[in-house]
Amino acid sequence: MNHSEPPTLKPRYATARNADRETDGALVAKFSTLLGKPLIPWQRQVIDVISEIDPATGTYYYDELVLTVQRQAGKTTITKSYDVRNALWGPDRKTWYLAQTGKDANDQFRDFVKSWRRTKLRKLSKPPRLSNGSMALEFRNGSQLRPGGATEAAGHGVQGDLINVDEVWSLSKQQAKNLKDGFIPTTTTRLKLTGVRPQIWWTSTEGNANSEYFNARLDKLRSGDIPERTAFFDFGIPFDADPEDLETIWSYHPGAGHLFDFDQLAGFRNQFEDDAEGWARAFGNIRDAGATERAIDSILWADTTAQQVEPRRGLRVCFGVGVSLDATHTVVAACIDSGDGAPPLVQIVDDLPGTGEAPARLLALQERYGAPICIDRRGPSAALADVLATTKSSDTFEPVYRLTDMKAGDAVTAPQSFVSALEQHNLSHATDPLADEQVCVATKRKSGDAWLWNRAASDVSALEAMTMAYWGFTHLPDWSIDDIQVF
Ligand SMILES: Nc1ncnc2c1ncn2[C@@H]1O[C@H](COP(=O)(O)OP(=O)(O)O)[C@@H](O)[C@H]1O
Ligand SMILES: [Mg+2]
Repeated sequence: MNHSEPPTLKPRYATARNADRETDGALVAKFSTLLGKPLIPWQRQVIDVISEIDPATGTYYYDELVLTVQRQAGKTTITKSYDVRNALWGPDRKTWYLAQTGKDANDQFRDFVKSWRRTKLRKLSKPPRLSNGSMALEFRNGSQLRPGGATEAAGHGVQGDLINVDEVWSLSKQQAKNLKDGFIPTTTTRLKLTGVRPQIWWTSTEGNANSEYFNARLDKLRSGDIPERTAFFDFGIPFDADPEDLETIWSYHPGAGHLFDFDQLAGFRNQFEDDAEGWARAFGNIRDAGATERAIDSILWADTTAQQVEPRRGLRVCFGVGVSLDATHTVVAACIDSGDGAPPLVQIVDDLPGTGEAPARLLALQERYGAPICIDRRGPSAALADVLATTKSSDTFEPVYRLTDMKAGDAVTAPQSFVSALEQHNLSHATDPLADEQVCVATKRKSGDAWLWNRAASDVSALEAMTMAYWGFTHLPDWSIDDIQVF
């Protein structure tokens, strides 16, 4: 097959463009270009349809978008340009970008603000507000674009003119219902007041067996039950196709040839190792029907919370590292002997952007606390682990990093021993916003008789860092008092 050009788009389903209606899509495309991301064909196709104008009212025809597409295809990107266009449509509009967690939404928002500051569009807004809790881009016309966590928002409800609910797979039926119930009753009033039809967008990769709301929604739409004013786009490989066939992945991925080349696919596949379901989901957009419930029960997590510990003289420590699947951040955790017969404690030390800053930070921690580092030599942390393992002192040619002696087989049992330790109250954890968020959605995936963190389903980097720290801690060599450093 020819891989030098992008394949033609082959959505599993796509609401057709109705040529009798004008579309506002070109303007969205223009904003996207100004924001540094000219729309790629699938993005333009979706934007042109959802931006169709009803000749009867002069405003949007559709009030709902359901979009499911592979991960990393560019779905979050289009929401940003659309939000900007929407906010500029008139004064005092409110648009919301809701991600899986508040932290995800804030990260996306910060990322967006970076491109916003580089465009000439920035003159249309006041300086972005970046403090947690009140992040917003306020336009000079009084409109606002705000990030939020879908879970939190489902608790109190948000109102507005455009709500993007991203990563819908993570929502329960009740949460989705709360979001919709908070939004719909106000839409008629907003339409009257602003003349622009409010919209709610549901965007997501396929989920897992727990994705109650999204699974039911997709099943219904796929059965042909598509409401008149809902635009529906369904990208992915055919349900009976073989996800291991890279030609198939290539020809059905709408980002193929635009966001990645064919030659990169084998490498992407390798990152998933033996997680075939994760791969099929991320790159084929096939539901992972096998993944079961959350790995750590909410009550267990709450019961094993303890106060953060300040490392001090005489306490044993091991650091653990977790890298997110997309390598956008590296989490460092510590497992610390809390002394006085209390169980050891894991706590998050750092959440670093990318992986580049990690070696220097880890070296500083290792030296300051005289503690070794535990890192998985396979999976998303493999490249960083290699750097740590191969860095040698230029004087002595000795390895610089003290890595615990963790074998591939140990990495497979580590998550299980981590959770068992919590269950037996032989381990506690300090409250941490990142770890607490990840634990809400983290699931297991089977690997032989053991289980591993399901990296493809959600970001588990903080939990992996804690897992590594705990494993390293329980495998520390017996130290003589001379080894213990003064903090
Ligand atoms: N039209 C585009 N032009 C250039 N890069 C893009 C475009 N759309 C998406 N990207 C890039 O592709 C990556 C994935 O996009 P994202 O919107 O985060 O995907 P998704 O939300 O589907 O996982 C990001 O790095 C993003 O900047
Ligand atoms: Mg996204």
